[in-house]
Amino acid sequence: MSPMISPSMLSSDFANLAAEARRVSGADWLHVDVMDNHFVPNLTLGVPVVEALAKVADTPLDCHLMIEDPDRWAPAYVEAGAGSVTFHAEAAAAPVRLARELRSLDARAGLALKPATPVEPYEDLLAELDMLLVMTVEPGFGGQAFLDLCLPKLRRARAMVDRHGLDVRLQVDGGISLDTVERCAEAGADTFVAGSAVFGADDPDAMIESLRAAAAAAAH
Ligand code: DX5
Ligand code: ZN
Repeated sequence: MSPMISPSMLSSDFANLAAEARRVSGADWLHVDVMDNHFVPNLTLGVPVVEALAKVADTPLDCHLMIEDPDRWAPAYVEAGAGSVTFHAEAAAAPVRLARELRSLDARAGLALKPATPVEPYEDLLAELDMLLVMTVEPGFGGQAFLDLCLPKLRRARAMVDRHGLDVRLQVDGGISLDTVERCAEAGADTFVAGSAVFGADDPDAMIESLRAAAAAAAH
């Protein structure tokens, strides 16, 4: 699978989301971090802002829900216009039912794992998913240092997806930059979230191109 780049709007100017989305027109997805101040110690945005952004953005939205009770709230993000909705394994009561519900609404379904959450218990669920997100920082904030300790899990996740012959994207999120994208691609990631690396660059679109090229070169 060719690498996809999903810049995290968390690092963009929240007062100018429409203009910020245009600064990353070369992106494959726009990553939107929803935080509820319960699942993570930070509060960002919710359904009304996702709905407003979906209306003005030409790029599909990749919503990452860092919230409690995604079983109850996640479908509303599809209704709001998200093309992909990722919920956390640690928060979902019935991940299979939720993934099926998201897909039945014509969205892509993603499952996210915090750094300390093992992937093995989810092997039999992978066929229900379009994406597995292996967090490479503790979720909650942009600009944190990449955790190398997540790479072995990423490798094991890649092996599982390949063993079952599944069409499941493997996403990494947290501390992704030109310094870390290659080791993630080498370990099997094919979809890369980058917040501070993209929006902190002088030319965000050029950074997206550089990240994509580095990932493609390192992928095997
Ligand atoms: C953190 C979020 C990330 C964040 C990544 O919990 O899930 O998407 O925006 O930011 P960087 O790329 O700066 O680590
Ligand atoms: Zn995220």
